[in-house]
Amino acid sequence: MYIGLDLGTSGLKGVLIDDAQAVLAEASAPLTVSRPQEGWSEQSPADWIAAAEAVMDALSAHGLSQVRAIGLSGQMHGATLLDASDEVLRPCILWNDTRSHEEAAELDGDPMFRRVTGNIVFPGFTAPKLLWVQRHEPRIREKVARVLLPKDYLRLWLTGEHVAEMSDAAGTSWLDTGKRDWSDDCLSATGLTRAHMPRLVEGSEVSGNLRDALSSRWGLPKGVVIAGGGGDNAASGVGVGVVKAGDAFVSLGTSGVLFAANDGYQPAPETAVHTFCHALPNTWHQMGVILAATDALNWYAGLVGDTAANLTGALGDLKSPSKTLFLPYLGGERTPLNDAAIRGAFLGLEHATDRAAATRAVLEGVTFAIRDSRDALAATGTRIERLLAVGGGSRSDYWLKAIATALDIPVHLPVAGDFGGAFGAARLALMAATGAGAEIATLPPIARTVDPDRALTAAFDAGHARYRAAQSAIRGLK
Ligand code: XUL
Repeated sequence: MYIGLDLGTSGLKGVLIDDAQAVLAEASAPLTVSRPQEGWSEQSPADWIAAAEAVMDALSAHGLSQVRAIGLSGQMHGATLLDASDEVLRPCILWNDTRSHEEAAELDGDPMFRRVTGNIVFPGFTAPKLLWVQRHEPRIREKVARVLLPKDYLRLWLTGEHVAEMSDAAGTSWLDTGKRDWSDDCLSATGLTRAHMPRLVEGSEVSGNLRDALSSRWGLPKGVVIAGGGGDNAASGVGVGVVKAGDAFVSLGTSGVLFAANDGYQPAPETAVHTFCHALPNTWHQMGVILAATDALNWYAGLVGDTAANLTGALGDLKSPSKTLFLPYLGGERTPLNDAAIRGAFLGLEHATDRAAATRAVLEGVTFAIRDSRDALAATGTRIERLLAVGGGSRSDYWLKAIATALDIPVHLPVAGDFGGAFGAARLALMAATGAGAEIATLPPIARTVDPDRALTAAFDAGHARYRAAQSAIRGLK
């Protein structure tokens, strides 16, 4: 048996699988985000531990004496700052916290960062957060002895060791992504050295062993292996079997992600595509990140006082894009714009614009943003031959059909079940314990395939062209 733990932003989820990867049990515990100031987003690491304890307590009811390994997945980019005694110095500054946008722009202005890390230094990434703390909380900065990503803090609690793995480390702006090693130059540009960083392993390698006190508390055997694991997107890639070039998934969650696996390292930071290490050795992945996907739909549903399910359920068959355009940049955008200041818009409103037209516009706006990411990935040479859809938004048929049509590719929907970060982490645990590799990260059974509506291809091409024109028109509008 193997356990996967996924430390998400809104909750921590655990799955227990058997040797044949069948899910035996699942448990989750909620987490909240604190937003003490505009643009800030923080969590207390103590809450992560409490959530992990609740999840492990629940899983232990199923009997954990046969468990061989635990894998970890987690929200990326957060800065967990520890002193020399591993005490947490301040709440963790999360991936969706934009307070350090000036510091990010400053670091990104030094060409070394893009050259070494293969990525833009985005405001949500870890390195600019350290610069912000240095400037605004110098007393805390003085005491920083170690910087850990969120799931690696969980690992410290589980094993007593400071270890990170490549996929999550690639989102710090401190990793030489091609070499899969910390960059001394990037670290020193933010006043840090290797001594501040955890040791690096691959996601499918052993990172340590579960502490005896925790083994006995939950009835696990002694010495259970803790696998490196992965950042939540890479771990989800392992979970849905997207581990080799040609395979991709679109995740319609709070944020939207178009994720493709790559055989080699092919950075193209100017496209605002993220190029990170995958959670498997010698493999990389790329992704376009859309900051508001279901977040945009839920925002609109809240505005009109209805639920997202009601609004999308009433749409019927796919139609030509609405005359009304929606640009989903509620909190800025990463790919392809790298613009923390841009904000969303409804354009082309007319007397005939009703609730259904505006709902379609919201779904289409996010769909066009995904197409922008597809185009950005294509510009780096990445081709998508098979596309899976995951995440809450994939419950809307209308949305899936729009995506299939706008990207002109069939979209495969896995059977009900969760093949996300926690499942991927459990697979990485299996690999670490048995020496298995990518071959066990198979595709999930497909429940159904949504084909493009070729009668509407031209209309969606034209809709995307209007979307691009509107995007240029509102850029710079304050
Ligand atoms: C990826 C990113 C998000 C977080 C959310 O770059 O910022 O997907 O990992 O969990």
